[in-house]
Parts: sequence; C-alpha cells; structure tokens
Amino acid sequence: MTKDPENYMERVHQGKTVEDTRQVYGDWAKTYDETLTSLGYRSPWLVASIIAARISDKTAPILDVGCGTGMSGQGLSNYGFETIDGIDLSPEMLEQARAKDIYRNLTPVDLTRPIDMEDGLYGAAVSVGTFTVGHVKPDCIPEILRLIRPRGLFALTVRTDAWHDHGYDALLEKYAGQNLLTVLDNHIQSHFENQDQQAHFLLLGKN
Ligand SMILES: C[S@@+](CC[C@H](N)C(=O)[O-])C[C@H]1O[C@@H](n2cnc3c(N)ncnc32)[C@H](O)[C@@H]1O
Repeated sequence: MTKDPENYMERVHQGKTVEDTRQVYGDWAKTYDETLTSLGYRSPWLVASIIAARISDKTAPILDVGCGTGMSGQGLSNYGFETIDGIDLSPEMLEQARAKDIYRNLTPVDLTRPIDMEDGLYGAAVSVGTFTVGHVKPDCIPEILRLIRPRGLFALTVRTDAWHDHGYDALLEKYAGQNLLTVLDNHIQSHFENQDQQAHFLLLGKN
C-alpha cells in the first residue's frame, strides 16, 4: 500500500511558485523515503546504471541535481561512485540527505536562478524526479551543462506530461543546434514498480 497519508505526491506538483514547492518538500522531507519506497521507486537505480555503464572512473565527481533526501545519490553510491555533491531547493530535504553520509558537499540551490559554482567542475550530473510538473523546466539545462566538463554526461528523468507541457522536444533540438549538447539516449519507463508514472530517461552529452 502507498504510504502517503498527507497526499504529498499530488501536492508537490500543484505549487505555483518556488516558495510553494520549498514549503511542501519541507513538510514531506521526514517521510519522503518511506512514501517513495512504498511505491517501488526505482529511478535512482535506473539513472545510476546509465551513468555507471559509461563512466568507469568511480572517483569522477558527480553532481546530483535536485538531490532531495539523497535517494538518487544512494543509487550512485551503490554503483561505487565516491565523489557525489548534491544541490536542492529544500533545506529539510538536504538535511535528510546529509544523514545518509554519502555526499561530499550538499548545497541549497534554486535551479531557476544562476548557480554560484565554477564551470566544468563535474564529470557528470544526474537529476532524478526534478524535471517534472510544477518544479524545474528545460530552460535550466544549459546552466547545469555549464558545471560539467566538455564531453561530460547529464542523465535525467523528465515526466512524460512535463515533456509535452514544457516543450522539451523543441528546446533540446535548439540546444543541439547551438552545439551545446547531443542527445545520446531517450527512452520511456515508469518511475515506479507499483504505479504507472511514465518518464523519459534522457542521456545528454555535453559538446
Ligand atoms: C521528487 S524530488 C526528487 C529527489 C531525489 N532526486 C530523488 O530521486 O528522490 C524533487 C526534488 O526537486 C527539488 N526541487 C524542486 N524545485 C527545485 C528548484 N527550483 N531548485 C532546486 N531543487 C528543486 C525538491 O526540493 C525535491 O527535493
């Protein structure tokens, strides 16, 4: 049975502002892992396996974008990656991630604004469950690519409804035309074992 008595799964997608989103995740942080685990949340492991298939150097620094409570970092850690930094909007979610003791650095960041980090710090980035309805849109992809070294990778999930609503096809084509990125893979799978919520699993190469 799904453990989500406060209906956070729905509520996080209904926020109109970044502040609304921060508030709901702040309230959800302590029970988030339990809710997602009850649904058979598997995307952290699926995304980590995409990166692990391409990057053999387990010391390569990896950025977890919208790391939340750290389930996505846990996926990377399970595949042996040792140098993982996380960024997220919600201090309460970051606090839960810190308790997992798998991240090198955890930093509060609003992805809808410029990120105060140097260019090319990371060999790769992942983002699981953050490019979705009511969260962040594809226009922040170039800022994330800026943080990755040339030829580095960005693996992310995008919920299928957000894909259509936010015009990912056109924007990715535009960024590819500007020689910012190459789409290396794009397939659709469910985020969950126990619920059908389809998402694109994208692998982008930074040019
Ligand atoms: C569904 S959770 C995914 C968390 C984690 N990646 C996972 O797989 O469990 C989405 C995360 O996106 C973060 N988020 C939403 N809007 C954001 C923004 N504007 N900037 C940074 N993080 C944001 C939330 O705080 C939340 O932790």
